[in-house]
Amino acid sequence: MTLILWAAIGYLLGTIPFGIVITRALGLGDLRQIGSGNIGATNVLRTGNRPAALATLLLDSGKGAIAVLLARALADPHAALIAGAAAFLGHLFPVWLSFRGGKGVATFLGTLLALDWRLGLVACGLWLLTALILRISSLSALVAAALTPFIALWLDGKAMAAVTAFMTVLIFIRHDANIRRILAGSEPRIGKKS
Ligand code: G3P
Repeated sequence: MTLILWAAIGYLLGTIPFGIVITRALGLGDLRQIGSGNIGATNVLRTGNRPAALATLLLDSGKGAIAVLLARALADPHAALIAGAAAFLGHLFPVWLSFRGGKGVATFLGTLLALDWRLGLVACGLWLLTALILRISSLSALVAAALTPFIALWLDGKAMAAVTAFMTVLIFIRHDANIRRILAGSEPRIGKKS
C-alpha cells in the first residue's frame, strides 16, 4: 500500500510541466509550437530566454529529486526508488497533457542525483562532457542514459541497474525523432532555434 502511495505522489510531482508553465508565465509562446515541440529545457532555450531554460532544467530535475528525498525521509529506500521512477514516468506521461509529456532527461538526472549522488554526478558529468564536445543536447542525453545502467550496476547493484535501464529504454524511445535527425546530420546544436 505504501509503495502505491509513493508511486502516486512521485507520478503527480513528475506531471508538473515546468517548461510549459514557465514559458506561458513569461509570455514566450506555446512551447509545443516552438523548435522540437518538446516541453524540456533544451526547447525552452530555443525561445532565447536562458534563465527560463535554466529554471526549467532545475525544476524538472528537482521534481524527481524531491519525490525521491520525500519518500526516503518518510518511508524507506524502496519507496524512494519507486517514487523516483514514478516521477520520471509522470514527466513522460502527464495526465494533464493527455499523457504526451517530455523526454525525461532532466527528471532522470534529478532522480539519479537523489537516489545516489555519485551515480547522478557521473551521469550529469557524462551529459556535460558530451554536450561540451558535440553541442547536441539529445546526443549527450543518449550517451549519458546509455551508460548509466552499467554504472548503476557497478555502484548500486541490480535493482538500481534495472530501474535505470527501464528509464534509459524510455529515453531512447522518446528520442526517436532526435535519433533520426542525428543520423541524418540535421539535429540542431544547443541554443540554435531549429
Ligand atoms: O532533454 C531533451 C533533449 O535531449 C532533446 O530535446 O528539444 O532537442 O528534442 P529537443
